Amino acid sequence: MHNRETIWIIGATEGIGAALAAAWADRGARLVLSARSADKLDAMVADLGHEHVALPVDVSDPASVTAAAKTLGEIGPVDRIVHLAALYDPGKVMDLDPDTATKIITVNLAGSFHIAQIAPSVLRSGGQLALCGSVAGYIGLPQGQIYSATKAGVISLAESLRAELNGVIDVRLISPGFVDTRLTQRNDFTMPAMVTPETAANAIIKGLTSGAFEVHFPRRLTYALKVLSVLPYWAALPLTRRLTR
Ligand SMILES: NC(=O)c1ccc[n+]([C@@H]2O[C@H](COP(=O)([O-])OP(=O)(O)OC[C@H]3O[C@@H](n4cnc5c(N)ncnc54)[C@H](OP(=O)(O)O)[C@@H]3O)[C@@H](O)[C@H]2O)c1
Repeated sequence: MHNRETIWIIGATEGIGAALAAAWADRGARLVLSARSADKLDAMVADLGHEHVALPVDVSDPASVTAAAKTLGEIGPVDRIVHLAALYDPGKVMDLDPDTATKIITVNLAGSFHIAQIAPSVLRSGGQLALCGSVAGYIGLPQGQIYSATKAGVISLAESLRAELNGVIDVRLISPGFVDTRLTQRNDFTMPAMVTPETAANAIIKGLTSGAFEVHFPRRLTYALKVLSVLPYWAALPLTRRLTR
């Protein structure tokens, strides 16, 4: 009988995932670390300790995800999967390259679907699958149209899975506000209530060990946007127009 949790973090090499890896390693978890960049994953294992495992994966490619699931089967049952991998390309809708838009959909939305499909076979019975949405998925925001749409899709997917996989695995939704990572460094507007990746990691660990379906932070921003998203359109849309000016 071992009490050490095995946690698979996808999107572990940067930003929130890297901070989460450091925080969970500190707490004694055994980590399986995934992203596309194998060299960065190896460097993380060298830094965090060789009890952790580097497992390169491209979530947009079902064959890569299936191969990762097979390797995980050899490592042993996983207690939690935290799926954070996503792409973001801010700008005006007319300026967005269609191939980039398709890639964002494939990584963010199809990628979450690919991970959800293999999750029940990778997780121990009752294990946890956390998908990452965003406050940008609560209501369509200007400057990140396709990204917002994929995050709305991830929210919907997590809600569906929570019902469909009830009693099989514990499905959760992570909804970050603005976190200071390479992803948001490309925004050219003032981001309210920005938090560090370390603060985000602590909020995620606390949330995933509590009982709530949605882990959302920082609350001063998430509650304001939740209110915005339930207002009638005639009241909400003029406000979203002003958000990213
Ligand atoms: N930062 C924010 O303010 C914010 C706000 C709301 C929600 N979020 C969400 O939080 C999550 C993490 O965001 P972040 O800011 O930490 O992003 P980030 O710093 O850009 O890190 C993204 C991670 O995903 C990996 N990745 C990208 N494409 C991948 C693919 N196809 N397959 C596997 N891994 C892939 C990246 O590594 P490789 O490039 O090596 O693959 C990297 O490790 C995302 O889901 C994001 O949408 C972030």
